[in-house]
Amino acid sequence: MGSTANFATDIVATMVKIRFVDEKGGTHDVSAPEGTSLMRAACDHMVPGIIGECGGFLSCGTCHVKIDTGWRDKIPPAGDDELAMIDCLTGTSGESRLACQVALDSSLDGLLVFVPSTLEDR
Ligand code: FES
Repeated sequence: MGSTANFATDIVATMVKIRFVDEKGGTHDVSAPEGTSLMRAACDHMVPGIIGECGGFLSCGTCHVKIDTGWRDKIPPAGDDELAMIDCLTGTSGESRLACQVALDSSLDGLLVFVPSTLEDR
């Protein structure tokens, strides 16, 4: 049976490591499979300050993060809908992204992300 698939090894996803820095400077190192959104990775690991209330439908802004400047250009640019939602938030900057719109892939392994200080700042 030369070409029988070994599903136990064929399904293993590449994991992407991310470091979140919270409002107090605390670090939260998480790993998530490629294809996962940055928001889902944070919520699955209970990173404080990232809520993801709308589930990734660009209607809440509770996944607002700031991408480290060294990583910003490695992430595909925000689309018009994401930019419009970011415009509705406070405390934003050129590094602001909605974590639900950032898909993780292996090129983002080691990504550094800052979580804004409070929900009121968003
Ligand atoms: S989870 Fe609501 S805008 Fe990202």
